[in-house]
Formats: sequence, C-alpha cells, structure tokens
Amino acid sequence: MNIRKLWEHEAPPFELLLLADPSRELVEEYLAIGECRVAEMAGDIVGVYVLARLDMETMEIMNIAVDEQMQGQGIGRKLIGDAIQTARELGYQSLEIGTGNSSIGQLALYQKCGFRMEGVIKDFFIDNYDEAIFEDGIQCRDMVRLAMEL
Ligand code: ACO
Repeated sequence: MNIRKLWEHEAPPFELLLLADPSRELVEEYLAIGECRVAEMAGDIVGVYVLARLDMETMEIMNIAVDEQMQGQGIGRKLIGDAIQTARELGYQSLEIGTGNSSIGQLALYQKCGFRMEGVIKDFFIDNYDEAIFEDGIQCRDMVRLAMEL
C-alpha cells in the first residue's frame, strides 16, 4: 500500500470523505484548507485523510476514512501513522483529532495510536448538522477532542 498526496488535478474521493463526515459543505471546507492524502492499493484509492494546520504549532486530522470493504485491516492505523510523520516532518509540535461521542471504535483507534482526550465541544453535532446522527443507539451530540505531542 502506498500513501501519497492527492495530485493537483485529481478529484478528491468524496465517497470516502463523506463516510467520515456527512456534510459535503464541511468536507469541502477541510479540503480547501488542508492537504488531502490517499492510500492506494493496486491502483485503487482505499483510504483518505485531510491534514490541516490549526496554528503555528498544531495540525489536525480533519477527516479520515477507509473503504467499507477494507476496514479493520490496519489501513486507518497506517493513515494516522502517515499523518504523525508528515506533521512531524513539517516541524509541528502537536496533532489533534476530533470525533463524536458516539464513535466508540474511532475513540478506541485514536487512543491506540497515542492520542489522549483533551476536551469536549458540547452540542457540536447538534449545532452544525441538520439531521440527528445516531451510532450504536447513541446520539452523536458532542465532539471529543484528542491530541498528541509529536
Ligand atoms: N473497540 C475497540 N477497538 C476498536 C473498535 C472498537 N469498537 N473499533 C476499532 N477498533 C480498533 C481495532 O481493534 C484496531 O486496533 P488494533 O490495530 O490494535 O487491532 C483499530 O481500532 C482499527 O484499526 P484499522 O483497521 O487500522 O482501522 P480501519 O482501517 O478500519 O480505519 C476508520 C478506521 C478510518 C475509522 C474506518 O473504520 C472508517 O473509515 N470508518 C468510517 C468513517 C469514520 O468514522 N471516520 C472517522 C470520523 S472522525 C474524523 O474523521 C476526524
């Protein structure tokens, strides 16, 4: 598997990006401010993430997704490893990520990768999304913020 920057004129893999965030508007905002990197296997894009600068010292993984058929095979972990390496090489001191209170698997993955919980933005998903989101019977209301030192 090869992880690379999206080429300048290549279309972003929206189908994948929308798995991580149902708002196309927000996804387009992330793409406008961040760098899109993709995981490629045998010529197919199987994963994606968007890395953006938050401030002079911090980058954030704004969106990360793996093709549904390919999940659970370590690709997400490799994408996060690539984000850590990229942010480090660019000289940033910390990396952040945010996810919903109901995203249990994602919270597990991010902590396994070294992120620690930093805070909660209450009602983020109520205030920023038109439709209610449920995962595993839990309403997604709050954004859990996680961070790691690089
Ligand atoms: N409980 C405990 N551990 C879990 C759970 C769970 N419910 N779910 C996953 N994990 C662990 C796995 O055990 C594995 O750990 P291991 O390597 O120690 O075995 C790890 O998390 C999963 O690793 P990968 O196989 O690398 O993950 P995957 O390739 O499936 O990618 C991802 C993870 C990106 C979250 C993928 O499932 C996905 O695309 N989901 C839909 C989109 C999404 O929710 N994106 C994130 C939204 S938040 C944001 O974008 C900032």
